Amino acid sequence: MSRYMVTSALPYANGPKHLGHLAGAYLPADIYVRYIRMSGNDVLFCSGTDEHGVPITIAAEKMGITPMEVVNKYHDIIAGDFKRFGIIFDNFSRTTRPEHIEFAQSVFLDLLEKEYILPKDMKQLYCPDCKRYLPDRYINGTCPKCGSEDARGDQCESCGTWTEAFELINPRCGICGATPETRVTRHWFLLLDRFQEWLEGWLGGQSDWKTNVLKYCHSWLSDGLRERAITRDISWGVPVPLEEAKGKVLYVWFEAVLGYISSTMEYFSKAGKDPDEWRKYWQDPETKLVQFIGKDNIVFHCIIEPSLLHGLGNFNLPWNVPANEYLNISGQKFSTSRGTGINMGDYLDHFDPDPMRYALVVNAPENRDSDFSWREYQTRNNELADVLGNFINRTLKFTLSKFEGRVPSADLDMTLLNRAGETAEEIAVLMESFRFKKAIGVAMELAREGNRYFDTAKPWKSLKTDPDQCAVTVATCLNLCVSLAVIFEPFIPFSAEKIRRMLGLDELKWSDAGTVLLESGLKLGEAEILFKKLEDGFEKVMDKSETPLVEENVEETPEVDFEEFMKIEFKVGRILSVEDIKKAKKLYKVEVDTGDRVRTVVAGMKPHYTKEELQGRLVAVVCNLKPAKLCGVMSHGMLMASDGESGVFLLEPAADSKPGDTIK
Ligand code: MF3
Ligand code: ZN
Repeated sequence: MSRYMVTSALPYANGPKHLGHLAGAYLPADIYVRYIRMSGNDVLFCSGTDEHGVPITIAAEKMGITPMEVVNKYHDIIAGDFKRFGIIFDNFSRTTRPEHIEFAQSVFLDLLEKEYILPKDMKQLYCPDCKRYLPDRYINGTCPKCGSEDARGDQCESCGTWTEAFELINPRCGICGATPETRVTRHWFLLLDRFQEWLEGWLGGQSDWKTNVLKYCHSWLSDGLRERAITRDISWGVPVPLEEAKGKVLYVWFEAVLGYISSTMEYFSKAGKDPDEWRKYWQDPETKLVQFIGKDNIVFHCIIEPSLLHGLGNFNLPWNVPANEYLNISGQKFSTSRGTGINMGDYLDHFDPDPMRYALVVNAPENRDSDFSWREYQTRNNELADVLGNFINRTLKFTLSKFEGRVPSADLDMTLLNRAGETAEEIAVLMESFRFKKAIGVAMELAREGNRYFDTAKPWKSLKTDPDQCAVTVATCLNLCVSLAVIFEPFIPFSAEKIRRMLGLDELKWSDAGTVLLESGLKLGEAEILFKKLEDGFEKVMDKSETPLVEENVEETPEVDFEEFMKIEFKVGRILSVEDIKKAKKLYKVEVDTGDRVRTVVAGMKPHYTKEELQGRLVAVVCNLKPAKLCGVMSHGMLMASDGESGVFLLEPAADSKPGDTIK
C-alpha cells in the first residue's frame, strides 16, 4: 500500500467551468484517484476555488458586483457541477478562507526570512486615463517570446510563458485600450534564479514525466530564471503581511499554489481528525504528490511551486505533474468568455455525466490538443450503449427471464475470466502511467470480447439443446459483468454502480476483476437501463446560445416578414363546449366563441386537459388558418399552446380580455 496526495488545479471562481477544464485537470485526476483507491492505496484528493487575482476583479467589474459576491456565487456553482460529474474531491476549499490567508502569509514571511524573497523598486505600468496601476491581465500586448498578439500581462496563453507586464511589446490598457506609462513602486520579488541550478538537477531526474511537460520546463530553464515580483498594487487578494507593504497583496499564483496544502489542512481540521495529520500527506517522503493541471499551468507547478516547497525545506515535491494539452471544440479553443464552449452545468441539465466522461477520456488531450464535437460525443455514447450496455443488458435479461434471476450453478469458463484478470492488470499499468485514453480502449475491448463470447455461445439455442452448457455461458458472462464493473468504475462510476446494483454487489476492489464473485444461486437485482442511444440532432435540447459551434445539426428557423406575420389573425376566444371525437385518441372537438362567430376547432388537447378543465376557458386562437378536416371533423382555427419538456399548456389571455379581442 502506498500513500498519495492528489491535486487538481484550483479553478478561478470567475465563472462556470466548461468541458475543457473538466477534460484537462479534473476528470483525469478523478479517474486516477478512483483507481488508486480501488487498488487499496491511501489517497487524498484536494482542490478548491482560486478566488483572488485579476481574473476575479475583472469579472466583478464586468458584472457590476463585488469580488466577494463573484466568488461566493461561482464557488458554489463550480463545486456543484463537479459533484454532479462525479468528481470525488475529499475537500474542495476556497482561497478566501482565513486559514488559507494565514498560511500563505506565513509562507511569505518564512521565505522572506530565508532571503528567497527580497523587496525592490520596480517599473510598473500605469494607465493615465484609468488612473490606476495595471497588473497582470489588465494589460494586453505582444508576447516577447512567441510574438502572439493575444498575450496578457501575466501570461501568454499561446506559448505558456509567464510574462511580466512591462516586457510586453506594444502594451495596451486592458480596460480602456490606452498606452500605459511606466512608474516606479516597491515590490517584493521571489529570487527564482537562486533555484535554477537546483531545479535543473531535480527536473533532470524526472525522466518518467510526460515529455510535453518536461519540454516546457527545459525551455524556461534554458532561458534562465529571473526574479519575479510576487506582490501587486490591487486591493483584492491576500494582504502582504508587512507594515511597509500596506495596500499591497500577494500575487495570486504565489498564494494559489499553496491552496492545495491549506485545503488539505482544512480537510483534517474540519473532519474532527488530528489537525496535524495533513503533514503526513505533504511532508512524509513516503507520500507521492500527483498534481493534475492544464498545460497553461505547467510553469507554476513545475517551477514556482517546487521552488516554494524547496525553499520552505520540509515539504515533498511533486512526484508527477501529468499536465494535459487543450481540448478544443470543433477546431476552436474552449473559452466561456468567448462563448465557444459548453459549461459543465449546461451539459448536465440535459444529459448524464457518464457518456461525457467516456467521450472526454477517449478524446483526452493527453499528448496533443484534441477536438470535441457533438458528433463524436454521439458516436461514443452509442458505443457505450452498443458494446458495454448491450453486453450487460443481454446477460442480465437472459438470466432474469431464463434462470429466474439467479446465477446458474456451473463450472465457469475460466479462459474468459482469466482474460478479464489480465485486462485489469494491463489497465493498471496504463493508469499508473497516466495513459487513461489507452486504458479505456483496453477496457472497452473486454466488453467487446464479452459480446463475441455471447454471440458464439448462443445461449438462447443451448438453453434447449444443452442446458448445462447454457448455464456455463450465463454464469461466465455474469462474472464477466463483475469484472467490467470493476475496470469501468474509475471512468464511468455512475454506470458501474448501476451494474453492481443489478448484480447485487457492494463496493468492488481492483483485484476483484477476473475472479468469481457471483456464487451460484445468488439472486440478482432489477435490470436497469445503462445508456440511451442518441439520434441525430439530440444536442438541440441544449440552449443554442451556449453552444454556438454545434451548428452542424442546427437548422435555422426561417425569418418571417412583419407583413407576412400581420396576416395572421390572432384572437381571444372562449371555449363554449368540448366533445370527444370518435376514434381520435388525442383530439377534442371544441366550440369557441371568437366574438364574430362561434367556430369549431379540432385541438390535440386530450392528453393534457380534461373536458371540464377546458370548458369556459379563455384561449388564444389563430382564426384564419386554412380550414382542414381532422378525423372527419372540419377545423376552423387553432388553439395556441406552449409545448416543451415541462408539458403542454394552453396560452391564457388575461381574465379581463373578451372574446374577439385581437392579439398582436
Ligand atoms: N486558477 C488557475 C487557472 O484556472 C489555476 C490555479 S492552480 C493553483 O488557471 F495551483 F495555483 F492553484
Ligand atoms: Zn507567447
